[in-house]
Amino acid sequence: MNNKTIGRSGFSSSFGVLAATLGSAVGLGNIWKFPSLTGANGGAGFLLIYLLATLLIGLPVMIAEISMGRAAKANPITTLQRLAPKNSLPWWLIGASGVLAAFLILSFYSEVVAWVFAYVFKAIGGSILSSDRHVTESAFGALISDPLQSLLWQWGVLVFIGGILLMGVTKGIEGITKKLMPVLFLLLLLLCAVSLTLPKVAEGLTFLFRPDFSKITSGVVLTAMGLAFFKLSLGMGTMMTYGSYFRDDQNIPATTFRVMIADLFVSMLAGIAIFPAVFSFGFEPSAGPSLVFITIPAVFSQIPGGQLLMIAFFALASVAATGAMLSMMEVPVVVLHERFGMSRTKATVLTIAILVVLGSTCALTNSTLANFKLFGMNMFDLFDFASSNVLLPLGGILLALFVGWVWGKDNFLQALSNHGALGNGAIAGMVFFLLRYVSPLLILVVMLKGLGLF
Ligand code: PHE
Repeated sequence: MNNKTIGRSGFSSSFGVLAATLGSAVGLGNIWKFPSLTGANGGAGFLLIYLLATLLIGLPVMIAEISMGRAAKANPITTLQRLAPKNSLPWWLIGASGVLAAFLILSFYSEVVAWVFAYVFKAIGGSILSSDRHVTESAFGALISDPLQSLLWQWGVLVFIGGILLMGVTKGIEGITKKLMPVLFLLLLLLCAVSLTLPKVAEGLTFLFRPDFSKITSGVVLTAMGLAFFKLSLGMGTMMTYGSYFRDDQNIPATTFRVMIADLFVSMLAGIAIFPAVFSFGFEPSAGPSLVFITIPAVFSQIPGGQLLMIAFFALASVAATGAMLSMMEVPVVVLHERFGMSRTKATVLTIAILVVLGSTCALTNSTLANFKLFGMNMFDLFDFASSNVLLPLGGILLALFVGWVWGKDNFLQALSNHGALGNGAIAGMVFFLLRYVSPLLILVVMLKGLGLF
């Protein structure tokens, strides 16, 4: 009702805006990446750097993306074309790089989502219920090294998410995330409550909250920053796209801040749910990505009511993954729809088709394509590395530079204002300062150092 661009739908309520945006941020990044990266990189020291990156880089870039999207009310490529002055540099390439990043991330992300969905059924069937690590390990191994199962689950996920997208922005994305986000919080609180009754609570929490700076290298700093981009869905036009669906009276800095805090809260709760359990049953916190699929089942099988909790855990992860996948797929869909004149249906089908091909290179990394490597990495790791550590930060630098030096302060402040009345004037000024000077420089230094380029 408040969206004035005729013929273009958007989010209809303030809660809907929050649910969809938070739905994008909260995902497997919180439940799969955050705990395993924190575990592998020494706990709280990593957390601290992640927090700094979120505040100094994530928050301003997110505000920039959302305000640009709302100002132009279009897909990322068109948004940059509309906002850039005539005959300036080809800034729209940032939008194009976002589409590339979306395809790369979706290729491996959809495979992890596939495992999560499969694990809901395995948890219900009870086949992964064993306190013996070797049993849960071989169950996971059997799933990921079976090419047919890997592909079919991945395709199932793509079709499922594509189906929701076909319901449209308001009914599909907003409608579904509005229902799912409260469920996610309930399940997470339940799991935390159980975890806090376990014997080694103190050890788990100490691990999460006491910094060990000896583990921090420039590579780790880059990983933490990459995680901040990934977690807040930044640098690839997702937030710009969602910004284009924002209501005109939505307070952007306040919404962004809420999303950041809630996202952090979910990550911390996931850590609180996982680490006490890991320590209580003598597992390694640095078990990496297998933490969720091997350690969690082994741990839960030793808790009374563990099967139900395990079902709850993987259901929670599926819910989180759904909101994030929706927002990622929406980027290529809306670009194909608005730039190439395709119907939403055609755009969605084409996006799924591209992902079936590109994603299969990730789905098969543990079977048929196990020995296929580029730059010393399999496709799964390469796509993950290239997106989180290169494309997203690069997108972030360029977006910050665009707003700070090209779009300019007046336009930025204007875009943030609510119906002419400029809310949050001081905050907006500070955010602009960060975008113009601090964020791009920080990202650049962290990237060059982390990639070993100087
Ligand atoms: N933020 C999502 C997560 O944490 C992932 C994501 C990245 C979504 C980039 C959209 C864009 O899982």
